[in-house]
Amino acid sequence: MLYSLLRKFLFLLDAEKAHYFTMDVLKVICKLPFAKQIIRKIFCPPDSPVTLCGLQFKNPVGLAAGFDKNAKYLDELSLLGFGFIEIGTVTPLPQSGNLKPRLFRLPKDQALINRMGFNNDGVEKVADRVKIFKEKNRSKTIIGGNIGKNKITPNENAWKDYETCFLKIAPATDYVVVNVSSPNTPGLRDLQQKEELKKILAHLIFLNKEKKYFKPIFLKIAPDLNQNDLDDILNLAIEIKLDGLIINNTTISREHCKTKREKIDKIGAGGLSGKPLLDRSNDLIKYVSDKTNQKIPIIGSGGIITAGDAIKKINQGSVLIQIFTGFIYQGPSLISKINKKFREM
Ligand SMILES: Cc1cc2nc3c(=O)[nH]c(=O)nc-3n(C[C@H](O)[C@H](O)[C@H](O)COP(=O)(O)O)c2cc1C
Repeated sequence: MLYSLLRKFLFLLDAEKAHYFTMDVLKVICKLPFAKQIIRKIFCPPDSPVTLCGLQFKNPVGLAAGFDKNAKYLDELSLLGFGFIEIGTVTPLPQSGNLKPRLFRLPKDQALINRMGFNNDGVEKVADRVKIFKEKNRSKTIIGGNIGKNKITPNENAWKDYETCFLKIAPATDYVVVNVSSPNTPGLRDLQQKEELKKILAHLIFLNKEKKYFKPIFLKIAPDLNQNDLDDILNLAIEIKLDGLIINNTTISREHCKTKREKIDKIGAGGLSGKPLLDRSNDLIKYVSDKTNQKIPIIGSGGIITAGDAIKKINQGSVLIQIFTGFIYQGPSLISKINKKFREM
């Protein structure tokens, strides 16, 4: 109720500005006496622990990558009840991303289109922020680090960018996600080809053991993969004993949207997220779960707007789920609603 009023106001602002405005206001509120305790009391659900790859998640509801790219709001976000928060995508060098505007709402569809382009402060700064948060993290929220390559790095050298990011982010976070599935960095999705991917992942798995980080490594895939490429990835994941898959990133498809075609076309390129992605994402989760005999843990991401959507993702084979667009449209109460339904399962 309160959030729907606030959303009316926020949706009058440019989408990206509204995002930072909301988070900055929350930061200021949290500085008031007793504010943190009150917010925690209102929003944090009772624990419903889930264990994955040796990590204890307070609950299965995570914040997907891209919301807190620079790990600037971990204190505030951890008060809202998330079981885990994924920061990034970070790249070795800071980069400003694509020209603005680059984030658009499709309210009729409870969806977003973004072409942010990995705008971030660079892995070094972000890893330092995570370390500081972790030192005083009373809520024990699990933090994942999502890594990518700089726009200027040619694909043949991409593995070096992932190496640089991994060596910085792995010591700071609880798990690491290799993102080769964003549609907003030219050529990035080509890294989902088996040989390219093997070069990156096998190297990180080697470094993980050599440096004794032993951090789970997950791969985030696109919902637009063709059948051959998807099956190749699944075979590779089993072969190299990947710790898990995040299914999935945003889509380049514009199917299942109620918004007028002219409006969508006018927005232009970018990844679509939110409700129109739900069925495609759930089908993909089910396919992967069946095809691998549940050998590869799945984190389900894409289109969760209601608690029921999240439970469906779990029933299709996800161990954990992540939200982003649904969090923008429904507000923080979505987290406790999902958790309530999860406890009733
Ligand atoms: C504005 C925006 C920025 C995003 N940035 C990233 C990113 O940097 N890295 C990434 O792996 N996914 C990114 N995503 C994708 C989300 O993490 C998520 O996988 C996707 O939006 C589907 O979930 P949803 O339908 O709940 O939003 C971004 C999504 C949005 C809307």
